[in-house]
Amino acid sequence: MLVIKTKNDLRAELDKIDKEQGLGFVPTMGALHEGHVSLIERAAEENNYIVVSIFVNPTQFNNSEDLEKYPKTLENDINLIASVADEAIVFAPSVSEIYEKNVTHNLYDFDGLDKVMEGEFRDNHFNGVGTIVEKLLRLVSPNKAYFGEKDFQQLRIIQKMTELQHLPVEILGCEIVREKNGLAMSSRNERLSDTIRLKAAFIYETLKTAKQKFGTENVISIKDWVHKAFEQNADFQLEYFEITDSETLTPIKQKSNNIKYRAFIAAYAENVRLIDNLALN
Ligand code: PAJ
Repeated sequence: MLVIKTKNDLRAELDKIDKEQGLGFVPTMGALHEGHVSLIERAAEENNYIVVSIFVNPTQFNNSEDLEKYPKTLENDINLIASVADEAIVFAPSVSEIYEKNVTHNLYDFDGLDKVMEGEFRDNHFNGVGTIVEKLLRLVSPNKAYFGEKDFQQLRIIQKMTELQHLPVEILGCEIVREKNGLAMSSRNERLSDTIRLKAAFIYETLKTAKQKFGTENVISIKDWVHKAFEQNADFQLEYFEITDSETLTPIKQKSNNIKYRAFIAAYAENVRLIDNLALN
């Protein structure tokens, strides 16, 4: 498996590839787990060639401590990729290689997709995500790029960004991979104590009950129920619960026919921020 550090080496390698045979791309920030692996496996199934990038992108962090604390496990990551897709090209550049002297983000008009939920609580986070994904997509020029529904809002924003920038790539969403108890996999789960990690099934259970209720109850009463469930559980602090249109991500108060809806939760446990979401219909 090839591990490449510079844009020039990557371009040289990609020049050897016949893109007609399919090039798939999986961008990551490393600290890989089974959630990432599922994206890499799908990309390897659907394409003759794949690139996996590992790059902790500074412009999407609004907290420098969070950026510094982000786990860096390059050697393990490379071994994990080799064990599932030995033919992959791994691109692991430095910050200066990607941003040169200008570590800033572009400003996009995401049509409101960035104003709710993760966007509301993390200033310019999605401009930073848009910036790095645009840079990487222009460099790799894949036919298909794979993103997890774990970060559903990010997935919709990247779809919007590629439309806005007319990038000729298919953006594909992949299902959330969960731990045995239902907790959505995340590198942050490692920071939870064993007891709370098990109890964190509560987040997915709450989403599943909200889905059941969605058949018969109105949105306001479901939201009330979720807020009360969290108030009665001292281990978890709810940041937001929203039910939105899956396409526009606009939070709704009432449902209409023929629209797909999704429920979203962000909550803290032991000062670790966890997010999850579930399709409701
Ligand atoms: P990162 O958090 O490393 O995630 C890389 C990809 O893995 C994302 O598309 C994310 O949604 C997906 N993923 C993470 N956990 C998952 C799970 N449990 N099930 C399914 N997919 C999962 O997201 C980023 O990096 C960055 O913002 C990035 C897009 C690379 C831009 O810097």
